[in-house]
Amino acid sequence: MSEFFKGKPTSRRAFLRGSAAAAAGAVTAGAAKAGPDPLITEVQPWASGLGEGVDATPYGLPIEYESDVVRRNVEWLTADTISSINFTPIHALDGTITPQGCAFERHHSGAIDLKKEDYRLMINGLVDTPLVFTYADLERFPRENHVYFCECAANTGMEWAGAQLNGAQFTHGMIHNMEYTGVPLRTLLEEAGLDAAGVLDDKWVYVEGADASSNGRSIPMGKALGDCLVAFNANGEALRKEHGYPVRLVVPGWEGNLWVKWLRRVEVTDGPVESREETSKYTDTLADGTSRKWTWVMDAKSVITSPSPQSPITHGKGPLVITGLAWSGHGAISRVDVSKDGGKTWQTARLAREGEAKALTRFYLDTEWDGEEMLLQSRAMDETGYVQPTKAQLREVRGENSIYHNNCIQTWWVRPGGEAENVEVS
Ligand code: MTE
Ligand code: CO
Repeated sequence: MSEFFKGKPTSRRAFLRGSAAAAAGAVTAGAAKAGPDPLITEVQPWASGLGEGVDATPYGLPIEYESDVVRRNVEWLTADTISSINFTPIHALDGTITPQGCAFERHHSGAIDLKKEDYRLMINGLVDTPLVFTYADLERFPRENHVYFCECAANTGMEWAGAQLNGAQFTHGMIHNMEYTGVPLRTLLEEAGLDAAGVLDDKWVYVEGADASSNGRSIPMGKALGDCLVAFNANGEALRKEHGYPVRLVVPGWEGNLWVKWLRRVEVTDGPVESREETSKYTDTLADGTSRKWTWVMDAKSVITSPSPQSPITHGKGPLVITGLAWSGHGAISRVDVSKDGGKTWQTARLAREGEAKALTRFYLDTEWDGEEMLLQSRAMDETGYVQPTKAQLREVRGENSIYHNNCIQTWWVRPGGEAENVEVS
């Protein structure tokens, strides 16, 4: 790491300490008080020469000092990288929007290369007029913009049997949150002549992708006509290849597997297809060995992203910002509580902005650290009154055979040195 990277936060902290001390007279002196800081007193090279011209990076990437803020995978998790998963570095991000370049990827048969001119979307089945749309056709329908989280049903799936992976990126990083631009699926279904007078409640759609896996899934008509979006942009720009370029389905609040990428067909059916992805996969095996299907909605969940194993406390006692993310597939987050003692006592965190339905909410607890160990937990509540369960509560209902839909409270054990570890409290 360069001197620049190390120097800047130190001097900023020194400034904060100085001003806080002046205001409250209570903050202990920091190391930066020892003597004059050359970063402040001397002219630095970046101030005495010229920077790069505007054409140096036509499409910008993060500065090299941020090169560790990247997607990572867990090698032993899958046999190869084609049908695999990598994880969003949530421990290093702030705010709520996930940049596409570090948003987790989950492919069943690899990310395909599909040009806009080769793109076709078919609507068939129980419609008056089966239709095929080109990409240019889609651009001519009225579009909407919405921010939504997409969470893989397998997020936190490795943690059922005990604390396993050491980092929020790995335990909770199968999630991203983007602003999507697209056409409501309802608009396209109506264009194909969905008989609105008929018994729509009994109907389903079967959606599939253009990749070899197709990732086919059945969705009840109520949801299809509700808030589903046929999206082509994310965070203001075209979808990245790995997120389904040029078109993906957005199924707000519901498990990521339904968010079909490279969307190529929507068939209106009179029942669910019972495809592989909704029978042998993405169902929840309960304690008695039976499996529960159609767990579509992602229940309220939260995690502290910092401090956490990959984001330890690197300063001494005193002011500490504890931060994390909360979300619910049922609606907006209404409150997040943080515990420093493994769930014995709780403090209500500050929401950076009012919770937004089916989108990530950032929370902060601006606190004082006494330098002692902590068992950090966060507990989300949503607008329906649902409270995120403990691991023990979830196991009572679900047993330990499950993989998917683990929304339990996470614990980080922060040691006096500031390092943190994934642990389980009973
Ligand atoms: N769609 C297609 N066509 N193929 C896939 O493999 N994976 C699904 C879903 N849509 C998949 C797909 C799963 S399991 C998840 S969690 C999300 O896409 C992940 O979306 P992302 O790769 O943009 O993060
Ligand atoms: Co998934």
